[in-house]
Amino acid sequence: MAVLITGGTGYIGSHTIVELLGAGQDIVAMDNFSNSKPAVLDRIREITGKKIRFYRVDMLDKPGMEAVFRENNIDSCIHFAALKAVGESVARPLLYYKNNVTGTINLLELIAEYGVKRFVFSSSATVYGKPPSVPIREDFPLSPVNPYGQTKLMIEQILADLSASDSGMSVVILRYFNPVGAHKSGRLGEDPRGIPSNLMPYITQVAGGKLPYLPVYGNDYNTHDGTGVRDYIHILDLAGAHLSALDYTERVRGVEYFNIGTGRGYSVFDIIRAYEKTTGKRIPYQIAPRRPGDVDECYADPGKANRLLGWRAKYDIEDMCRDADRWQSMYPQGFED
Ligand code: UD1
Repeated sequence: MAVLITGGTGYIGSHTIVELLGAGQDIVAMDNFSNSKPAVLDRIREITGKKIRFYRVDMLDKPGMEAVFRENNIDSCIHFAALKAVGESVARPLLYYKNNVTGTINLLELIAEYGVKRFVFSSSATVYGKPPSVPIREDFPLSPVNPYGQTKLMIEQILADLSASDSGMSVVILRYFNPVGAHKSGRLGEDPRGIPSNLMPYITQVAGGKLPYLPVYGNDYNTHDGTGVRDYIHILDLAGAHLSALDYTERVRGVEYFNIGTGRGYSVFDIIRAYEKTTGKRIPYQIAPRRPGDVDECYADPGKANRLLGWRAKYDIEDMCRDADRWQSMYPQGFED
């Protein structure tokens, strides 16, 4: 019996595969390489010594996806594949709705047809929009502020309806906070296209001399030092949460939602300081205007995941900076090398 991983060569998918292989799971992965490279598969093999079955297929290609189900004995699925650039989703909403929502419906039709009952979905804290307070609990209001976030919420709703229609299904929805860091080997990490839009990959490229300085988007937020506060979580902790979620789907039916964060908020200045301290590298920065759509503070109450999944983040902010920097230093061109 195998776990199907969609988006298996992406940043979160690839680290999760390494984690699952380490736990002895049998993996079938797919990806269309729209935002990842085939070299990721070599790195997974180098790290784990194991080869996985892999299909290059797009979620909008339903016959192509059906072959994956036909040729393998799949009994659970972790669904990562999605477009995820916030700005692009505002500029090209239909692309996002079609790819993320229609692609997921194609997948879910096959899940139903082939009798797969265990499903883990990669959602995001972005579904909370601007939270009324922090820390954020799972029962907080949901109001995403861009098409990317809307697609995550729509898929959550589709999954809730699907699980209500089939009492044999078990669905776990993981709402990630801000994943950062890289595999300890330095061989696997985040490889954004072009200039990074997220904080940590931007910082690693400044540290590596690829970019001259970090623009700090606003220093007049209502936070301890005026810069935006987020809940950064080590990618290895996040990968571990998927193993716990998969285990949970074996025990419990229905649909359940979990925040996956550390429960600690760090500002942009906190991150710059932690990065400089752990790596000894200087991160020059300049204060820039606020980025539209950004909130003051966003961090999780991960208590529910701690209790029901038995999962807890182990790595601290210094591990996150050190590991992100190791990956950047070893592979400054990402998976191009
Ligand atoms: C962003 C997305 C969110 C997505 C998440 C994970 C937006 C508005 N939100 O979250 O939907 O789920 O990534 O991929 O894009 N910052 C700087 N300078 C930079 C980059 C970021 O100061 O060059 C600041 C931001 O203003 C923010 C913090 O760093 O306060 C974190 O930003 P980022 O890493 O982009 O994550 P989010 O905005 O939390």
